[in-house]
Order: sequence, then structure tokens, then C-alpha cells
Amino acid sequence: MNPTALDYLLWGALPYVVLAILIGGTLWRYRYDRFGWTTRSSQLYESRILRIASPVFHFGLLVVIIGHVVGLLIPETWTDAVGISDDMYHVTALSLGAVAGVTTLGGIALLIYRRRTNGPVFSATTVNDKVMYLVLVAAILAGLTTTLLSAVAGLTGGHEVDYRETVSPWFRSIFILQPDVTAMTAASGAFKVHVLIGLALFALFPFTRLVHAFSAPVWYLFRPYVVYRSRDDYKPLTRRVPRGWT
Ligand code: HEM
Repeated sequence: MNPTALDYLLWGALPYVVLAILIGGTLWRYRYDRFGWTTRSSQLYESRILRIASPVFHFGLLVVIIGHVVGLLIPETWTDAVGISDDMYHVTALSLGAVAGVTTLGGIALLIYRRRTNGPVFSATTVNDKVMYLVLVAAILAGLTTTLLSAVAGLTGGHEVDYRETVSPWFRSIFILQPDVTAMTAASGAFKVHVLIGLALFALFPFTRLVHAFSAPVWYLFRPYVVYRSRDDYKPLTRRVPRGWT
């Protein structure tokens, strides 16, 4: 299929516009809104549902991200070379992807339910948050649709265009500054919709609470614990308390 002018715009130019917004927006936010660089946690308002929903969402998403890194960055020739057959690859990718995708969707559904039904949490939800949730859920649903369509095509012997011959080479080509527009043009409609929603999420990323993802919580493991004291128990300190773990 020959690419049209729209294909060149969507798969040749748009990714670079999104990358510029993502990198430029993140640097700008870090420079000018460091105090706003936060999840804006609502744990103080409600923690019962959050305690379950948040890890379910984040662990599901972690597996989805690992799946994307493997599926998009590792060429088919490499998995062939180490003896992984196409069928073996797809059965593993589809089943793991489906479990991870459904887990992520379940997690975000619980998080949104909590946000909508808990008064103080809902009051702390901005328009920016609502737009972000909408695009995030749309990306997850569209991703799961591609997985479902690929699985149906695999089971019925139909012909769903393999993303490792279309989306993945296009994705890699962006980073060597030679966007393979023809490869992405050949992808199925479901993949195109999913990728466009994914790009929209990346463009929104720097301007939302999602920036907390860039603050890898590595130091969290080594930092001293935070001491909370209730006001009722407040007694002026009579001895010097050392800082940190000791
Ligand atoms: C431009 C960026 C993106 C590309 C090129 C992309 C590509 C893909 C591809 C090729 C699949 C099919 C995997 C399979 O069927 O085995 C997929 C699935 C999926 N994607 Fe994306 N994606 C992108 C961004 C996103 C974003 C931002 C999200 C949201 C968090 C997301 C969530 C999902 C989910 C939940 C699935 C289904 C489960 C899975 O296979 O992991 N994707 N994506």
C-alpha cells in the first residue's frame, strides 16, 4: 500500500512533534514547576481502595511496558535467530499481554471508581486529571483491542497484519531519524488507532501528574522514614533525636 500525504503527516512528522513536546515539556515543567512535580496523592482522603487498586494498576502497567519494549524494540530476526518460532512468540506475547492489559484495565477502573465515589478525592480531581484518565483508558482499551483481534485472527487462521512487520520497524525507524512510513501504513486500522492514542498520551504526559513516573523511586528505598506524630501526643523534645535510620 502506497503512503498518502496523511500517512506522511501521521507517521513521518507527528512522532517528532510529540517527541519535541514530551522532551521540551518535561524540561520546562522540571524547570518551572518543581513543587508541582508530584502525583498529588489523595491517600490521606481514602486509602482502603487505593491500597489494592494502585499496586494492581502499576504492576499491570509495568508488565505492559516490558511487553512494549520487547515487542517494539527486538526485531523478529533476533527471536528467529535464537530459535523462538513465530507461533511460540505470538502465543506467549498475546497471553501475557492480555493478562497484563486486563490487570491494568481492572486497576484503573478501580482507581476511577474511587475517584468518582469518594467526595474529597473527587473534589481534588482537576479537568487536567479527567482528560488524562480518558486518554489513558482509551490507550489501554485500544491496545487490548489489538491483542484481541490478533488472538481471534490467530485462532481462526485469519490474517491480522503482524505488528512485528509493521508497527515495530516503524517505531524503531523513528529513532534513527528515517521514519519508515510505508511499514506503518501497512498496519491494520486497530493498530493505527492505538498508536495515535498512545502518541496523544505522550504529548499530554509532561503537563499531567504522570510526570511522577520519571521520578524513579530508587532513593525511596534508602531514605530515612518519615515520622508522623499526632498533635495530641505532642511533647517538646527533651533529648536530641538523631536524623535517619539510627
Ligand atoms: C506510540 C506508542 C505505542 C505503540 C507503538 C504501541 C504498540 C502496541 C502494540 C504493537 C501492541 C500489541 C501487542 C500484542 O498484541 O502482543 C500493543 C498493545 C497494548 N498497548 Fe500499546 N503501544 C503504544 C503506546 C501505549 C500506551 C501509551 C499505552 C497505555 C498505557 C498502551 C497500552 C497497551 C495495552 C494495554 C496493550 C494490550 C496488552 C499488551 O499487549 O501489552 N500502549 N501496543
